[in-house]
Amino acid sequence: MSSPRYAAIMGWGMAVPRRVVTNDELARRIDTSDEWIRTRTGITQRHVAGPDEHTSVIATAAGREALERAGLAPAAVDTVIVATCTPDRPFPATASTVQHNLGIPRAGAFDLAAACSGFVYGLSVGTGLVKSGMSRTLLLVAADIFTHLIDWEDRNTCVLFGDGAGAVVLRATEQPSGLLSSNIGSWGEGEGLMAVDAGGTRLPATPDLLAQRRQYVYMHGREIFKHAVRGMCESAEQAVTDAGVGLDAIRLVVPHQANLRIIEAVAKRLGLPMERFFVNLDRYGNTSAASVPIALYEAVQQGRVVDGDLVLLTAFGGGLTWGSCVVRWGTPAL
Ligand code: UT7
Repeated sequence: MSSPRYAAIMGWGMAVPRRVVTNDELARRIDTSDEWIRTRTGITQRHVAGPDEHTSVIATAAGREALERAGLAPAAVDTVIVATCTPDRPFPATASTVQHNLGIPRAGAFDLAAACSGFVYGLSVGTGLVKSGMSRTLLLVAADIFTHLIDWEDRNTCVLFGDGAGAVVLRATEQPSGLLSSNIGSWGEGEGLMAVDAGGTRLPATPDLLAQRRQYVYMHGREIFKHAVRGMCESAEQAVTDAGVGLDAIRLVVPHQANLRIIEAVAKRLGLPMERFFVNLDRYGNTSAASVPIALYEAVQQGRVVDGDLVLLTAFGGGLTWGSCVVRWGTPAL
């Protein structure tokens, strides 16, 4: 049997923790204000996980919805990828827990760590597996409880992030659908621009390091901002060129939701009006790997993307990593 030519997106799902934390609530706890957060980032609230809502819990909920929407039984799935930088445990992979929770028998299961670019990386890798013939039906979940890495006393970072999960089901098809082009990249020299130092093999979490709060994320915001705009623009332009279309053919751009000002700068540099960009970071903040699939989910639910549309996904994150892809939206009959 020859390899399929496309991997269609057959189903989509999302999940966020119950608790909503508003800017005003943060302003009561630290030296910040709703006005500063809104004008500098566009964020007004975020969802924050409780102790019973770890990564596999929201990943499972998003994955279950994606499978139901695709009309597929768990047994049909042969590969599970979870894109996350906040796994349930350092070992084993959260993907195996999600597989178990969903009752998916004997699928291959692994985690993929590319920070906020995780979904675009996962879509690229997942499509490659389907197109090579290694996988026929693949569940990709991007999920992060990024607030686990947040120092709630650090106003430079704690106002920016929220928790969430988004999922898609990819299925082999001959109909032109799913990823038409994609690219992923990393600039390892920038690994220290945004990181968590303690808790890995380089610096195991000792009482001293914990007292210095080195288990939490730090970030050089302004530098990341510049790299994010350049990285997303260059990779987005590459993806559009590789798809053999022009930017004018793109119905909607679904960018990583980190900061409204980053999205506005990308729009300006690409020469596209903001109406062609989907934005929902006001309600979720930066949900790391989950931000693109949650935005894609809401764009589809709101009718901003319909069958046949070309959608440009573009993301940027710690690593530094980036990636973009052009997707032809459409759900071929099973
Ligand atoms: O997913 C990828 C991960 N990260 C990103 O995409 C982040 C990219 N960077 C950004 O989004 C922006 O750089 C930030 C939102 C993080 C910061 O915005 P900025 O306009 O670059 O502000 P800044 O860091 O230059 O800080 C300006 C001022 C500083 O005060 P001084 O030194 O001018 O007196 C900060 O101390 O704003 C202060 N500040 C705050 N004030 C109130 C920083 N955070 C806050 C805060 N509330 N939460």
